[in-house]
Amino acid sequence: MEISKDDVLEYIGGFYVPEDDDMAALRELNEKENIPLIWRETEMIMGMLLDIAQPHTILEVGTAVGYSACFMSKHLGGDVKVTTIENDYDRFMQANENVSRQKCSETVNLICDDAVHALKQLHDSGRMFDFVFIDAAKSHYSEFWDEAVKMVHRGSIIVCDNVLMRSMTVIPPDEAEHKHRTNIRNMRNFLEYITNLENVKTIVTEAGDGLSISYIR
Ligand SMILES: C[S@@+](CC[C@H](N)C(=O)[O-])C[C@H]1O[C@@H](n2cnc3c(N)ncnc32)[C@H](O)[C@@H]1O
Repeated sequence: MEISKDDVLEYIGGFYVPEDDDMAALRELNEKENIPLIWRETEMIMGMLLDIAQPHTILEVGTAVGYSACFMSKHLGGDVKVTTIENDYDRFMQANENVSRQKCSETVNLICDDAVHALKQLHDSGRMFDFVFIDAAKSHYSEFWDEAVKMVHRGSIIVCDNVLMRSMTVIPPDEAEHKHRTNIRNMRNFLEYITNLENVKTIVTEAGDGLSISYIR
C-alpha cells in the first residue's frame, strides 16, 4: 500500500486540538478563503516550542491575517508581546480586525511595512526578541534572517516555516522547472547557511511544509 505525505498529515492532524473555539473558527474561515496560515502540524510543534521556551517577546515576519500571531499570544496565556510584520495593506487591515476579535490587541502589535525595512527599524530602536517566527516570502529568508538575528540573544529560538516548499527544495535546481529554480536555489543556500553557523544549532524537519528550528547558543 502506498502511503502519501497527505495520508500522514491527515493521521497526525487527528491529534490536533485548536487553541479555542474562536481560533478554530478563524482557521476554518482562512482555509475556506485560501488565506495562508500555519498548518495544523506546524501549529502543534510551535505550541510545544513555546511551552518549552516560554518567550516574553516574539517577532513574526509575515502576519497574513493574524492567525499565527493570535495563536502564539493565546497559547502563552497573554503573558507575551508579539510584534508581527505584514506588507500587504488589505491583509494587515484584516489582521487588525482579527486581533481585536480574538481579544489579542493588548499583546499583538501589528506593523504594516516591508519586513526588511521594519526589521531594521526595530533593531535601530533597540528591540530584542526571545522567539522569532519567519513565515513570509520564501526567496527572501536570508535577508529576514540577517536582520532578525541581530535582535536575538543566547537561548532565543528562530523558526522558519515552509522551508521545503511542498518538497520542491529537495529537487536539484537544474532539474526543476525554470520558474522555480531561483526559489529553490535561494532556499537551499539559506538552509546551507543557517545549518553551518557556529553559534546557532539548527535542525531542518519535514514537519508541516518543512520547518527549520534554530537555537542561538
Ligand atoms: C504564509 S503567510 C503568513 C501566515 C501567518 N504567519 C499565519 O500563519 O497566520 C505570508 C505573509 O507574508 C507576507 N509577506 C511576504 N513578503 C513580505 C515582506 N517582504 N514583508 C512583509 N510581509 C511579507 C505576505 O503578504 C503574506 O501575507
